[in-house]
Amino acid sequence: MNTRTRKIEAARIALSHVENGMRLGIGTGSTAEEFVRLLADRVRSGLKVIGVPTSKRTATLCEELGIPLTTLEETPELDLTIDGADEIDPELTLIKGGGGALMREKIVAAASLRMIVIADDTKLVDVLGKFPLPIEVDGFGLAATKLAVEKIAKRLGLKGSIRLRVDGSQPFVTDGGHLLLDASFGRIHDARALSGALLSIPGVIEHGLFLDMASAAVIAGADGVKTVFRPSSTE
Ligand code: A5P
Repeated sequence: MNTRTRKIEAARIALSHVENGMRLGIGTGSTAEEFVRLLADRVRSGLKVIGVPTSKRTATLCEELGIPLTTLEETPELDLTIDGADEIDPELTLIKGGGGALMREKIVAAASLRMIVIADDTKLVDVLGKFPLPIEVDGFGLAATKLAVEKIAKRLGLKGSIRLRVDGSQPFVTDGGHLLLDASFGRIHDARALSGALLSIPGVIEHGLFLDMASAAVIAGADGVKTVFRPSSTE
């Protein structure tokens, strides 16, 4: 199986958890897009679902493929969110936001009764942090916010560069109109402490650490697809 086939297989297994009448959170990224394509096939065959997209990009794809959409204003509680991830550790703590959609992804996942992560097995890690952690920040006071992040990182013993994400020659702007700092920490041994510390900085809107959110992960590798459940999940 090549990487694309693995993503499709993970998406296919996740789709088997989707039931008629469900209110879905629909993720962002190349793996989530495979899920959207498979979901659209089922919708064309008569499956009735309604979805909240986690990004403008996903909304556009869903609209093109005829998946009915709603908003969290109209539908504030969802049954199931299916989304990709950049890194997944053994507790199913995630790094997300490589595609820049982390804030909406987290809002949608938090509004869902369950979240299933879909990924190929290259996303599995023992310790999070090889993938740079995206931190969504307000543009106002950017230098002060970045300095505050650097001080917190130092206090927690984390080293590595913290860079403003760019799109060509301009700063990358999220769907929410914010900027992103990508923090290359290497190994994040205490994701919970880092999460709390980052959220205490006023200019930080959100970060890409997803703690206690995924109830299961569907992982596709050379030996096939396996579903891993979060140890403390009630699923
Ligand atoms: C989008 O902001 C991300 O959180 C994605 O879910 C994540 O980057 C995984 O994307 P891929 O499925 O493209 O690897």
